[in-house]
Amino acid sequence: RKIIMNQSHRRLVLPLLSVLLLTASAVVADSSLTLTRQGAIGGEQRLVSPGGVFQLGLFPVANGTKWFLGIWFTVSPPAVVWVANRGRPLSALSSGMVMLSGRGDLVLLVTARDNETVWSSNSSAAASAAVAQLHDNGNLVLASEAGAVVWQSFEHPTNTFISEMRTGRDLRTGAEWSLSSWRDADDPSAGDFRYDMDASGSPELHIWREGRKTYRTGPWNGVRFSGIPEMTTFEDMFEFRFTDTADEVSYGYRDRAGSPPSRVVLNESGVMQRKVWDRATGAWNTFWSGPRDQCDSYGLCGAFGVCNVVDAIVCSCVRGFRQRSPAEWRMRDASGGCARRTPLRCGGDDSDGFYAVRGVKLPETHGSSVDAGASLEECGRRCLSNCNCTAYAASDIRGGGAGTGCIQWFGELMDTRFVDGGQDLFVRLALSDLETTKTKKFAVVIAAVTTGVALLALSIGLLIWRRIRRGQEGQSPLRFQRPPCLKTS
Ligand SMILES: *[C@@H]1O[C@H](CO)[C@@H](O)[C@H](O)[C@H]1NC(C)=O
Ligand SMILES: *[C@@H]1O[C@H](CO)[C@@H](O)[C@H](O)[C@H]1NC(C)=O
Ligand SMILES: *[C@@H]1O[C@H](CO)[C@@H](O)[C@H](O)[C@H]1NC(C)=O
Ligand SMILES: *[C@@H]1O[C@H](CO)[C@@H](O)[C@H](O)[C@H]1NC(C)=O
Ligand SMILES: *[C@@H]1O[C@H](CO)[C@@H](O)[C@H](O)[C@H]1NC(C)=O
Repeated sequence: RKIIMNQSHRRLVLPLLSVLLLTASAVVADSSLTLTRQGAIGGEQRLVSPGGVFQLGLFPVANGTKWFLGIWFTVSPPAVVWVANRGRPLSALSSGMVMLSGRGDLVLLVTARDNETVWSSNSSAAASAAVAQLHDNGNLVLASEAGAVVWQSFEHPTNTFISEMRTGRDLRTGAEWSLSSWRDADDPSAGDFRYDMDASGSPELHIWREGRKTYRTGPWNGVRFSGIPEMTTFEDMFEFRFTDTADEVSYGYRDRAGSPPSRVVLNESGVMQRKVWDRATGAWNTFWSGPRDQCDSYGLCGAFGVCNVVDAIVCSCVRGFRQRSPAEWRMRDASGGCARRTPLRCGGDDSDGFYAVRGVKLPETHGSSVDAGASLEECGRRCLSNCNCTAYAASDIRGGGAGTGCIQWFGELMDTRFVDGGQDLFVRLALSDLETTKTKKFAVVIAAVTTGVALLALSIGLLIWRRIRRGQEGQSPLRFQRPPCLKTS
């Protein structure tokens, strides 16, 4: 085995090594900056990024009974951000060796088993690979002599994404940058949960548990995900990047200058957590986690249901809809959802109307249609003129106000919830279902006006009465101008 170090690093590491040797320490974890075709890394050896931010090496789980090749934050080795041989652990630290294979792939071999390959980067352009290097953003890059990227770990996420990484899809190549959870804290092999991008309609991110959807972020609205208003509270630390083009649909973020290390993890319980390193305490603090409450549980209130965590019974039906199965709802199972009270007339401009559900995480957008160029008014007109359209909303709220752009939903509205800083959703109803709400509103207005008029009359009356009284009081000194004593004299 030969460790290839470049000159500057040798200068850095050798004094450190001699200090360690002088103290007769057995744990000399020597490290290198690059791995070439002549080199290899095994045992305690590490590949470190030039600024020392990240390290690649073998790490143990389950009390050292299993070893994996991974990348971790130097400040916090337990914070593993990437694992190579997820499902194929090594049984001992000493038997693992990382090198560039004859084909040019990065491989993990077991020396104790005749150099059996337990993991390979499997890159199609491997032949040109000349060097592997860990960058300071945590990306392990296999590059050619000329510097062209042959393979990179950022394209193959495990359960974590970090600054400058993407999650989503490359629509040209079909490549997917999705996450899968660890099975448990002692087993990095792919667990039950997946996190991926649904690129149909207005794109959004989903968490799945064995083929069942458990959580949605809500669609991107130009500023944040519709269901994650918390994002605005940490945009001073992170710059969010959402890409929605014909080539790529992806989401990622970038640490702003001076921000502490951060990572977003799909944990073993199927919860996404944004964690930020607290330099003062040396701990990872959770800035956001999703799903965050029961209303984030996918489909809890069924089709055309709305969830509100502050209500005693969190599920209700959108106005104009009634519980499809009151018996099930009574047993606190609202997943059957709600049915329309009055069928849509669907014939021209004045047959149906819209009811505004204000402040929500927009319903599931799979199968929706998006036109970023349309105005919200135009969106309403389009929805009304298409019999299949059941709701619409603005697709972009960057400009403030009601927003611009147009998302149209066709068919059932799934997984709508009230949320702080939520958006307005315009649900199509038959005019008669809308009338009740209009009449009710009218009644409220009448009541308010009547009360107002009455109060006004009362206060004017009071004012006049007080004026009169004050007038009388004002006259009193005149009346008692002559003290009684004068009267007697
Ligand atoms: C891990 O090892 C320690 C000490 O060898 C032992 O006390 C402990 O029970 C082990 N834990 C597990 C989960 O095997
Ligand atoms: C395993 O690979 C190393 C490095 O290429 C080589 O020195 C060693 O002879 C190989 N061992 C076997 C059993 O092939
Ligand atoms: C690499 O390819 C082999 C054979 O096709 C496959 O068994 C293995 O899972 C692949 N490894 C990775 C990391 O994709
Ligand atoms: C996953 O995250 C949630 C929310 O922060 C937490 O309650 C849960 O304990 C975590 N699960 C694991 C296995 O760490
Ligand atoms: C409405 O949906 C039906 C059934 O899915 C479809 O056949 C029809 O073309 C749609 N109409 C419009 C205007 O999109």
